[in-house]
Amino acid sequence: MGRLAMRRLALAWVVLASLGADAAARADEVRPAASRPLHVGAARLAAADTEPGQWMAHGRTWSEQRYSPLAQIDETNVARLGPAWVHATGTLRGLEATPLVVDGVMIATLTWSRVLALDARTGQELWRFDPEVPRAWGRHACCDVVNRGVAWWEGRVYVGTLDGRLVALDAKTGERLWSVQTTDPTRPYTITGAPRVAKGKVFIGNGGGEFGVRGYVSAHDAETGERLWRFYTVPASKDGPHEHVEVAQAAATWSRESTFESGLGGTVWDSMAFDPELDLLYVGVGNSNPYNRVLRSPGGGDNLFLTAILALRPDSGELVWHYQTTPAENWDYTATQHMILADLEIGGRTRKVLMQAPKNGFFYVLDRITGELISADAFAAMNWASHVDLETGRPVETGRAEWKDAESFVVPGPGGAHNWHPMAFHPGTGLVYVPSQDMAYPFLADPKHEHRPGYYNTGEDFPAMAKSIDGFERALKFCSPTHLTAWDPVARRQVWRVNKRSEINAGVLATAGNLVFQGGGGDGILSAYRATDGERVWSADLGVGIMAPPISYRVDGVQYVAVLVGVGGSAGLNFSVLESRNDGAVVAFKLDGRAPLPARRAPTPGRVRVTTDQLDPAQVEQGRVLYGTHCFRCHGVNAISGGLLPDLRHSSRQTHEQWRPIVLGGTLANKGMASFADVLSPAEVDAIQHYVVSQALREPTLLESVARFAAEQGLCIPASWLAR
Ligand code: HEC
Repeated sequence: MGRLAMRRLALAWVVLASLGADAAARADEVRPAASRPLHVGAARLAAADTEPGQWMAHGRTWSEQRYSPLAQIDETNVARLGPAWVHATGTLRGLEATPLVVDGVMIATLTWSRVLALDARTGQELWRFDPEVPRAWGRHACCDVVNRGVAWWEGRVYVGTLDGRLVALDAKTGERLWSVQTTDPTRPYTITGAPRVAKGKVFIGNGGGEFGVRGYVSAHDAETGERLWRFYTVPASKDGPHEHVEVAQAAATWSRESTFESGLGGTVWDSMAFDPELDLLYVGVGNSNPYNRVLRSPGGGDNLFLTAILALRPDSGELVWHYQTTPAENWDYTATQHMILADLEIGGRTRKVLMQAPKNGFFYVLDRITGELISADAFAAMNWASHVDLETGRPVETGRAEWKDAESFVVPGPGGAHNWHPMAFHPGTGLVYVPSQDMAYPFLADPKHEHRPGYYNTGEDFPAMAKSIDGFERALKFCSPTHLTAWDPVARRQVWRVNKRSEINAGVLATAGNLVFQGGGGDGILSAYRATDGERVWSADLGVGIMAPPISYRVDGVQYVAVLVGVGGSAGLNFSVLESRNDGAVVAFKLDGRAPLPARRAPTPGRVRVTTDQLDPAQVEQGRVLYGTHCFRCHGVNAISGGLLPDLRHSSRQTHEQWRPIVLGGTLANKGMASFADVLSPAEVDAIQHYVVSQALREPTLLESVARFAAEQGLCIPASWLAR
């Protein structure tokens, strides 16, 4: 902002502390070093249970159960579990990856799609790979610059990068073998999911549904990177030409007036599973763009293959069956959530099932040979549907969740009753452990919505939603917003539940020691629960929030439990509060481990106090709307950041003097703050600054209103929210 404007604001700033981003800690190093020969082929993966000490695939085995048959650590001795080693990753944003462990080498992914290889016994770094994702691409990530892990095949590992590449690395050295662009770089595609691999092919999807892209999953030759097939989940037009017959099938379920220019969404941003015996690749499909079906496909239709589970032939991409969880989806109810394959005794016979607990709140058990629906039952709070009709396989909507013309509080919200956090199946207890959550959300349609390339295009009226501040407060109005739910998929009921106080959820691991491990989300506590009854039998304070799923492996006869720590994601960026400094790390535990854990460090949000103000109300109001359109995703609703990214209310005077260069000139683009010059004028950027300053001044008022609202409604809100 210019000197004049600065003077007009006439603010006196007192900088009490600066933001804690430590540039040195972020620096990357590529240091290839020799390690052991490593090889994971089809035979080895198919027989993964004969090598329980390895964790060779995303969900340990192709069935994605996330169950470790190791039992050196069990419910009787888990009290002796202690840190074996800690490896600081030098990251400060969200870590969601499942590390793989093969022959004593652990390979994990970090922020900005970076890959890290460690000695699984000592935590010592073997190599690092940085695909050098342009940091400005972070603007296209709906939910942080996270990555959920690599796939391993023969001597290579594969990573999908935030800017849409699929990269093959030598597992021994980290050397890049090949790299292919899997997306159109002119559209806001991102990859955060882990690739999967089978039959010499790497399968990769992508994200970007919120911004407006067309979803698909592709298969690439594992050796050369050559693309073998691509399955589009939604049509590009009503009449075609369509790329394959299934697209024509899908096109019949969209109205002619559909917003094809938006890409329609349907991205395959996370889960897949492979059944070698049936030769089927299962793929979870995401939400729509825009969210609201009346805007998206006027005239109706089920809008295939949004929110569907697809069974594809891995060699050809041909569709064998599909099951759509939320026909005519309207609420961001992705079916990209983790899918588990298991054989269960149901009704006196063994059924080969696929289990999924998608965002919409129903726990589905499908026959994975045919796609037939066996059962679907609510596992969390919901008001959008009463039940799933087992005859038709369709949810029965209540009508209370329409949000075209008026604001509607919908449960679950777009965060889902279960999000990306992997669940686990324990074959001994027969239970599925689901990182579930109760979240309401104030949907309101933007009456003026039209697709604008490069924008967040969900069709919601965010500025209005944030204005009814109680809107976003009410979105959090559950005493225990997140929980760990033990679900019996045969008896179709909850067996136990542990309530959590953090708004951030975390992935799960089950082990043969009758244990279930899960991080506490924002609170930094890793806990072990007895698998049979949910009794907490062990916990450790890791000092940094945890959302990634733990794994277990064995090297030289010693069983380890390991997890990445560091919160972020959508919840971490825009509606939770950092409880400690977010220094990322990989932490491994073993019996009688005695390595020191880093001490919990207080977050350093920075403090700036505004002592005088002469704000222009018209500019503040204009800025409020613009902030609610362009900035809240990363800097927090109502300019209240959780502390993961700068809280603009606390920015220094120097930053405020550099406001236009930062927001329009892109001077911080290489740190993830892209220029907004394509969508904002200088006057608009100044208006946002007026609004941010007004929020800095209004902080106490805001808190008071939250507390008053909660008291009036007799509702409880997370303590961390009030603490800000
Ligand atoms: C996709 C995420 C994202 C969005 C959206 C975003 N920012 Fe940022 N912003 C960042 C990141 C990351 C940083 C921190 C860069 C660094 O590490 O210095 C940042 C930093 C800033 C800073 C410097 C703050 C300081 O105290 O150092 C300003 C000012 C800023 N953003 C303004 C805005 C405005 C205004 C908008 C909306 C027009 C916006 N940002 C939208 C990611 C985002």
